[in-house]
Amino acid sequence: MSAGLLLAAASCGPTDAPNLAASTEGERLKHEQPANADEPSGEQPPALAEEESSLRIFEKRILPIFQAAKPSSCAECHLSGVDLKDYIRPTQRETFASLVAAGLIDTKKPDDSKLLTFIDRRPEKPSLVTEKVRRQESDAFRAWIRAAVRDPELLAEREKAAPAGPELPAEVIRHARRDRVLASFIENVWSEVGRCAACHSPDRNQKQVEKHGEQVSWIKLRDPEGTLSYMLEAGLIDTEEPDQSLLLLKPTMQIEHGGGQKMVIGDHAYKQFRRFIDDYAAVVRGKYVKADQLPESSDEISLVTEIWLKIEGVPSQYDKMLLQADLYRRTDSGWSEYRVATSDRPVFGAKNLWQHSLSLTAPRESKWADELPAGRLPSGRYLVKLYIDRTGKLQRDFTAELGDEDFVGQVEVESRWPAGYGRMTVVKFPIVD
Ligand code: HEC
Ligand code: HEC
Repeated sequence: MSAGLLLAAASCGPTDAPNLAASTEGERLKHEQPANADEPSGEQPPALAEEESSLRIFEKRILPIFQAAKPSSCAECHLSGVDLKDYIRPTQRETFASLVAAGLIDTKKPDDSKLLTFIDRRPEKPSLVTEKVRRQESDAFRAWIRAAVRDPELLAEREKAAPAGPELPAEVIRHARRDRVLASFIENVWSEVGRCAACHSPDRNQKQVEKHGEQVSWIKLRDPEGTLSYMLEAGLIDTEEPDQSLLLLKPTMQIEHGGGQKMVIGDHAYKQFRRFIDDYAAVVRGKYVKADQLPESSDEISLVTEIWLKIEGVPSQYDKMLLQADLYRRTDSGWSEYRVATSDRPVFGAKNLWQHSLSLTAPRESKWADELPAGRLPSGRYLVKLYIDRTGKLQRDFTAELGDEDFVGQVEVESRWPAGYGRMTVVKFPIVD
């Protein structure tokens, strides 16, 4: 690095930071340059920068990072759990010793220090602002580590401290990583937003936009990451009170929704949305401290389709109750062990009718799971098992599941499962006595 760069970067930090380290190592400050010497100047001979004491670099460039209120560049990928501040102690001596103890400084090959690898890790599309912060952090630590490993007094004290680093267990840090959070968003929310696409996806909702404005286009086409960022910016997800998120209140009609009721509390999509939103809120608010607090991932993955199932002749006594249809596929050895599709929605009693689009479902990491993205249900014979929430238990506890006590009957159907609202597969509600 050139001296010009080094000096320019040094002038970015607050220069009036409390001098925490000075009491023990103050005598080295005699090398300090006058304040105006750090004006950017490409003319400085590199030797001058080399000579700067590690203490001076620490105080001018590392301590300000420690004291800064804003998060470090790590936040671009770690939503919580780690920050560069976790690796800095109030004094240079402690910081060096604890970083060596943690194996993060390589005293023989300072440029290979693991801490620098952490800092230099960058996303494919880094934000310009964060990139600038990262550059400052990287330059500051590189300069300091290079100088510090040449200091015999610091070297003598190495490893005489508890290892530096975040206090949280690795599982928690991993869970709060942006790529993990995005994967959870795709699995739980993106997989279901097809239900909302007719009115909320910019390729399909011109009329809605004309009437209601651009904000109805909250789905960003083929861009789950952009969709999540937009939802956060637009305040559709409430991290203080997750269950009050607009993303839930609107489609469940807990508040007025231009699209009507598209979801009910406790149904499949609602559960999926809550799984993501509740977890996201806990991550960004730093609620997880132990690995056993992390939510278990579900055994099943799902994907909404445009394949519709219609049930006729539903007794009107079930009006407005949630009906869940689980589909099992005929195989050589009988019905599939697990459901291959599901769908749930309240019964329309006045018309003795129930109809809804199917979500394909598969046990995680099964062979069928690999085929889910195609969004097709193979033609053939299926068993449709029906459950109705007659006691309203899902309303009371959205995490409840319908089970044997909610079973109301089953029916077999042969279909090619064409997609489209106009091409529904129709079955008759089974007569049960
Ligand atoms: C570009 C995204 C990105 C940035 C920025 C980033 N990390 Fe990471 N971090 C990761 C990934 C990915 C992993 C998992 C790496 C692996 O498992 O090999 C990880 C893992 C970690 C771990 C777990 C332990 C380990 O040895 O892998 C720690 C601690 C950590 N990062 C700290 C930091 C710190 C501190 C910063 C900021 C100085 C930072 N990270 C910046 C993506 C990032
Ligand atoms: C039939 C059309 C239609 C469908 C389907 C639909 N919506 Fe809407 N939605 C609207 C309209 C129209 C508005 C604008 C008026 C309003 O805010 O209620 C809206 C507004 C919203 C808003 C507020 C956006 C903002 O920034 O103000 C959210 C959140 C929302 N819908 C969520 C959903 C979800 C989630 C689904 C799918 C489960 C869904 N909607 C399905 C028509 C629909």
